[in-house]
This record gives sequence, C-alpha cells and structure tokens, in this order.
Amino acid sequence: MAEDLSIHQGTKEEQYQFLLPQIKGLLTGEDDLVANMANVAAALKEQFNFFWVGFYVVKNGELVLAPFQGPVACTRIRKGRGVCGTSWAENKTLIVPDVENFPGHIACSSLSKSEIVVPVRKDDEVVGVLDVDSSELDSFDDTDAKYLEEIVKMINW
Ligand code: SME
Repeated sequence: MAEDLSIHQGTKEEQYQFLLPQIKGLLTGEDDLVANMANVAAALKEQFNFFWVGFYVVKNGELVLAPFQGPVACTRIRKGRGVCGTSWAENKTLIVPDVENFPGHIACSSLSKSEIVVPVRKDDEVVGVLDVDSSELDSFDDTDAKYLEEIVKMINW
C-alpha cells in the first residue's frame, strides 16, 4: 500500500534528490502503466506544486492525454504541433521559458506561462511525453530536464 509522500523544502536539486527514491519506491513492483503515470504525476505535483503535470501517450499516430494533475487539458495533439508534438517529432526535451514565444504553442490554459516537455522512449522510439507547466515565466532549466528524464526512465514502458 502506498504511503503518503513527504514534501521536502530546499533547492530544486535537493527537492528532486529527495523525490527520486520516493518515486522509485512507488514504481517498484508495479507494472501497470496507468497507475505508474498517475503516481508520478501526483508525486511531482505534490512536491513542486506545478500548475499542470501529466503524460500524453502516442496512440494511432497522435498524442492522447493520459494521467495528469491539474486543470482539464487538450485531449489530442498531433505530431509536430505545440510543445508536446514538437518534442515528440524532434525526440528531444524542450524547455520553453515563455510559452507566448513558442510558435504553435497549444494553450490549454492561459495561466500556463512556461513549460518543459520530456519525451518518453522505448527502444529509441518516442512512446509518449511528460509535460510540466508552470504559472510563472522561466520556471524550468537543465536541472528539471535532467531529473524529469531520469524519472520517466524509471517507469516500465
Ligand atoms: N501546451 C502544450 C499542450 C498541453 S497542455 O499544456 C497540458 C503544448 O503546446 O503542446
């Protein structure tokens, strides 16, 4: 049975360092993908209070909304569209300091100001993305990229 995760104060790096083993613990012994995506989204939301955090998975050539925490969001995103679809098409992590300056950004909420999208890979192919949105400008950097990439690799896709 899952126990409550505790919230840790400190630098961003310290918060991720604290969160990582807890996420690992949550995922160990569980191979249900939806359950694991749901708990990862919840753990990140609880620790960092991000505006929106969740997954999109590739289904029939589109990204389809998967477990998330935050306000309702766009259900389907095509390859190459928005930050998520671009991360998928380019197979790379994208950090967007100001979403208004990202051509084609899909605004699920006008309150979202900055964003990071990390591709999820299985056998080198992108099978989904982890999308994190902030209500403040310039919230994400290489530290987020490093740890979020590590976190998505912990999930058994
Ligand atoms: N802003 C994203 C769409 C997903 S929502 O932010 C949850 C994009 O441009 O791909």
